[in-house]
Amino acid sequence: MAKLGVNIDHIASVRQARRTVEPDPVNLAFIAELGGADSITVHLREDRRHIQDRDVRLLRKTIRTQLNLEMAPTDEMVNIALNVCPDMVTLVPERREEITTEGGLDIIVNQIYIKEVISKLQDESIPVSLFVDPSYDQIQASADTGADFVELHTGCYAEASTKERVKQLSLIKEATAISQSLGLGVNAGHGLTYQNVSAIAEIRGIQELNIGHTIIARSLAVGLKEAVQEMKALISGKGSNYIRNHRNNHSKEPC
Ligand code: PXP
Repeated sequence: MAKLGVNIDHIASVRQARRTVEPDPVNLAFIAELGGADSITVHLREDRRHIQDRDVRLLRKTIRTQLNLEMAPTDEMVNIALNVCPDMVTLVPERREEITTEGGLDIIVNQIYIKEVISKLQDESIPVSLFVDPSYDQIQASADTGADFVELHTGCYAEASTKERVKQLSLIKEATAISQSLGLGVNAGHGLTYQNVSAIAEIRGIQELNIGHTIIARSLAVGLKEAVQEMKALISGKGSNYIRNHRNNHSKEPC
């Protein structure tokens, strides 16, 4: 069964909307872990629009699972990663004007530079994952850089019409098999929701799914621990049982 990395950026987005101290992603990471998160993912962006340097430093000290630091491959971020020593760095492309990460990294065009960044991180025993589109050429180029993992971009699958979705799903299946055959570990994420995660979770070989927005959105209704538990149940294929039992439990509660 794929593990679940919970991306907590959007807890920080709410805090930064008021430049105040709540909600605190560092405290709430603990609740996500109680719900069964296997890792905590944060994206420290150049413009610091949500996660702050302080969050990354404190999370390193407080979480009991794994810290996955998403970042652009810049000198500033590499220095921060070398200082914080996360359990994994996921390199992502970054554009100031985008609302969220839009596409995968272009490893073919930036191969030499990315290779240098990877070796600086690996020299300090930090495994590196590359966020890439599910394309053969990008995966082959990723393997050539010496990366440990790829994270397959599931955005096109998530946004596809019902007709197109089957094609996008098979692209991700093929990309998973190709990555494995080249010796890369495989993660996946972006745009996954309670409605569309199951088909991706069923793909053999995907080790971890990184999911953020839908879990944080759901947590407003049911709380973060429950939102993470529901996602874990869906990933394990026990989603409908979980929801049925949960409803039964609720119906036994006195009103
Ligand atoms: N993986 C990567 C590399 C991302 O950039 C993001 C968004 O920050 C996610 C996963 C999570 O995407 P979402 O918030 O749509 O679940």
